[in-house]
Amino acid sequence: MRREPQTRVRPDNILDNLKTAVVCLDEQLCVTYLNTASEILFGVSARHCFTEPFDRVLPYLAEHRWRLSAAIHEGAAYTERELHLRAGGGDPLTVDCTVTPFTDFNARPALLLEFLSLERQLRISRDDQMRIQNLANREMIRGLAHEIKNPLGGLRGAAQLLEREIDDPHLIEYTTVIIREADRLQNLVDGLLGPRRPPNKQPMNIHEPLEHVRALVSTDLPAGVTLVRDYDPSIPDIPADREQLIQIFFNLVGNAVTALGASGQILLRTRAQRLFTIGGTQHRLVVRIDVIDNGPGIDRDLLPRIFHPMVSSRAEGSGMGLPIAQYLIHLHHGLIECESQPGQTMFSVFLPLEARDG
Ligand SMILES: Nc1ncnc2c1ncn2[C@@H]1O[C@H](COP(=O)(O)OP(=O)(O)OP(=O)(O)O)[C@@H](O)[C@H]1O
Ligand SMILES: [Mg+2]
Repeated sequence: MRREPQTRVRPDNILDNLKTAVVCLDEQLCVTYLNTASEILFGVSARHCFTEPFDRVLPYLAEHRWRLSAAIHEGAAYTERELHLRAGGGDPLTVDCTVTPFTDFNARPALLLEFLSLERQLRISRDDQMRIQNLANREMIRGLAHEIKNPLGGLRGAAQLLEREIDDPHLIEYTTVIIREADRLQNLVDGLLGPRRPPNKQPMNIHEPLEHVRALVSTDLPAGVTLVRDYDPSIPDIPADREQLIQIFFNLVGNAVTALGASGQILLRTRAQRLFTIGGTQHRLVVRIDVIDNGPGIDRDLLPRIFHPMVSSRAEGSGMGLPIAQYLIHLHHGLIECESQPGQTMFSVFLPLEARDG
């Protein structure tokens, strides 16, 4: 007798891991099912949705009532591309939407709604614009930094000479201030100029620089802050400059430590991701490194500008950590993204696996 092959996954398990948001409605257009991607897309909790009218749970769909009604009563499926869904004064969602009538367990008419969020694509184009803009800004800032560097060196040298010529401790105080402030400016200018050499790329395991940063940071971590790892050991080696990767992760983890203050958790996570587009190039495989903290999050107003040079919310911050990280990632043909809300801030670095010149 032929045995049916046994499946080892439950349909719920599959549905909750889909990137597509799936919603089911009954004949009265009340919600009967909602998967995890829907919860994320529409910002709702499935537990509080069942048997509720769809437009109460999903105000984004309220204006589509007549189309949904028509679909269920006429049994007509439809698909709409690049649909802009709005709810109240919030940001619109852009989705591809498919509506399919079917019959449920009780042989009653029902609707299956599928939403594919186009946010990822939108984010790429936004990110490209941001990268181009940042590169242009960078060139201008580098030019300016160069102009400041030489006279600054002269100024410091002259103050040093002057210091040697004078005995009055009162006057020496002034030269000390000039030298100290010149050094501070010098540090800033060095930061603005960025790395002095092109990356020296060697194949390496991504976890090696990550572990190095973990060890570095762990030495003076507040007692209440924990650093947790969730690595995928099967990730193949990537061509990268070890020192530059260390600098990138050090800046990201350093920011997370600062944001957490006395207590919290930082998660370092690595994954391989298939088919990922960076700067218009689709890569077969990229490494994704997430640095996630459960701190207070980034101010909504600050978020769009955090990769700009000299943007900082901290009095002692120079606001150079993220732009430098972004530039180094750019030298590796990669991408950095950030998502933040109170309680979870995630910086994701994507690095392509294939070697490229430059
Ligand atoms: N994990 C995080 N949580 C909360 N805010 C963050 C986080 N990472 C970055 N930020 C915000 O982004 C700003 C810019 O970060 P960036 O690393 O560029 O500069 P900085 O840390 O202020 O100064 P620097 O790194 O040059 O010492 C920070 O001042 C902070 O407001
Ligand atoms: Mg920083």
